[in-house]
Amino acid sequence: MLIAGNWKLFKGPGEAGSFARALAGAVDTAGVEVAICPPYVSLAAALEGTTGSDIQVLAQSVHWAETGAFTGEVSAAMLKEVGVAGAIVGHSERRQLFGETDETVARRVEAGLAAGLRIIACVGETLAERDGGQVEEVLRRQVGAVAAAVGAHAQLVIAYEPIWAIGTGRTAAPEQAQEAHALIRAVLDVPILYGGSVKAENALVLLSQPDVDGALVGGAALEVDSFAAIVEAGRAAAATKG
Ligand code: PGA
Repeated sequence: MLIAGNWKLFKGPGEAGSFARALAGAVDTAGVEVAICPPYVSLAAALEGTTGSDIQVLAQSVHWAETGAFTGEVSAAMLKEVGVAGAIVGHSERRQLFGETDETVARRVEAGLAAGLRIIACVGETLAERDGGQVEEVLRRQVGAVAAAVGAHAQLVIAYEPIWAIGTGRTAAPEQAQEAHALIRAVLDVPILYGGSVKAENALVLLSQPDVDGALVGGAALEVDSFAAIVEAGRAAAATKG
């Protein structure tokens, strides 16, 4: 069970450090893995704030090249030098707003894993794709691209994040999440997180689904109390799953 907080474009170094310290004091990580994913400039402060705790610090992306003419990008080796344990790759905001494709996502996943990072690769359909009956086709294509590049790597995690549920307050029904996760697992058998408006109130029922192995949390990860409550739900769900 992994509960990861995706901070997106929130929390500079000062806030990241104090938040990380407060979070480390507020969560019990026995039986659950906890990760926070700050912006690049806040990674060092978050690492310092989590020192002595089991909370992992991951970046929000990673480039496939080690060095080169790639303005605005950061390499796996650079992340490792800072002490970062892994990275999110292919979040739908990267795909929709910054031109990421299945191919660039697969390249980032492959390079990150090869460098020894843990990678959370994101997939998920748009509302139009769901309404058009294309969920299976889209997930098979997106997950298939990752599977073809790296297979069921031990450091790989998939996050299923239906785009219509991200930041909208609209969560996939537990059965919808379970159905999508089972489909993904049939293509690639690695831990699968659910993401999309996960909150303290809905976390337990989502995390209790048999093929839901954790959560990738956006908005509700920005407050210590709400994120800690989701971590608690993860602990409870993990305990009942055994
Ligand atoms: P949300 O974001 O929890 O705010 O919907 C999830 C994500 O984009 O990872």
